[in-house]
Amino acid sequence: MYKINDNFSALGHRYLFSEIATRVAAYQTAHPDADIIRMGIGDVTRPLAPAVIEAMHKAVDDCATMSGFHGYGPEHGYDFLRCAIVANDYKGLGIDPSEVFISDGAKSDTGNIGDIFSTDNIVGIPDPVYPVYMDTNIIAGRRIRMIPCTPDNGFTGEIPDERLDIIYLCYPNNPTGATISRQKLKEWVDYALENGSIILYDAAYEAFIRSEDIPHSIYEIEGAKECAIEFRSFSKTAGFTGIRCGFTVVPKKLRNLNYLWERRQSCKFNGASYVTQKGAEAVYSAAGMKQTRDTVDYYLGNARIIRETMSKLGLNPVGGDNSPYVWAETPGGMDSWDFLDMCLEKANVVLTPGSGFGSLGSGYFRVSAFGDRSRTLDAMVRMENMIVKGI
Ligand code: MLT
Repeated sequence: MYKINDNFSALGHRYLFSEIATRVAAYQTAHPDADIIRMGIGDVTRPLAPAVIEAMHKAVDDCATMSGFHGYGPEHGYDFLRCAIVANDYKGLGIDPSEVFISDGAKSDTGNIGDIFSTDNIVGIPDPVYPVYMDTNIIAGRRIRMIPCTPDNGFTGEIPDERLDIIYLCYPNNPTGATISRQKLKEWVDYALENGSIILYDAAYEAFIRSEDIPHSIYEIEGAKECAIEFRSFSKTAGFTGIRCGFTVVPKKLRNLNYLWERRQSCKFNGASYVTQKGAEAVYSAAGMKQTRDTVDYYLGNARIIRETMSKLGLNPVGGDNSPYVWAETPGGMDSWDFLDMCLEKANVVLTPGSGFGSLGSGYFRVSAFGDRSRTLDAMVRMENMIVKGI
């Protein structure tokens, strides 16, 4: 008789965003006329940049010709995109294109990276956290230590007083929207170097950084190429949540991890499509950079509105300035899931309950700024009415 992976029994019944989607769908079925504003999952809503669309159209046309047709591409991505990434995102940071692996997104990569590490490692996972890191390590059966991320440490975690082998960090942070200073990131890098640990650094929201002093990449910190893998995504940077493209940087200074990730990807992955990668390359054209930055600024405008509303309501918001997420306290310390239900029923607004991201998220909720401006404004009026006027 075959055996199943019993570690799945330690997971929550559904993945966080599937659970929310199920609740929202049930509510919508029962209330077909309800005009629901979705600010739960961080899914983009603005169209792709014209430069990206043009490049993708052209790539499709290439494939209509004998000379421009593309079949299987390299599993690690086309050199034109690897080189564009290095020239723009890692300029002056000493990253080589052969250290960049193109993929279908940071969710897959942060989930799959565990394949190249022994299940015998002790893993440090922030609380609250993007659920992929937690769930994939539960599935693998690794021992997990939580790294508390609280207002006291600016949601950047205390440096552990024990040895952790693998540490996940994500900045600008999902879910709290907090950022990390260069100094604090250096403390994490120093810890990793001293303990022989590896940092898995998720920089999927890097494009939202506007303050000069916040690091965009962990490789801005000395020594990070000896202790860190970095993940990035075009999802939030350029609206690719539906197109799917991201990349992972695995420096060659990391023992044989660059080889192992290449080996893993070539065994289990056939690469992002040529059309997708051509679209991603166009993000780095002069027009693409301007257009995608304008869109990110639009979302940051929403985030500012959300943050100001949460502040006005006395809910002590975090994030929303260099991040598309605002993290705030539930009114009167209400249970996060109860607050989700209340917002859905009374305001027809969908949020993400903080406790879905970990036990320290209890009493918090997350609001996504990826919506339409007028809908964001409507949602804030509805929440204000619900909380202040009880309607
Ligand atoms: C989120 O809402 O946390 C993200 O959209 C999820 C993801 O990027 O997979």
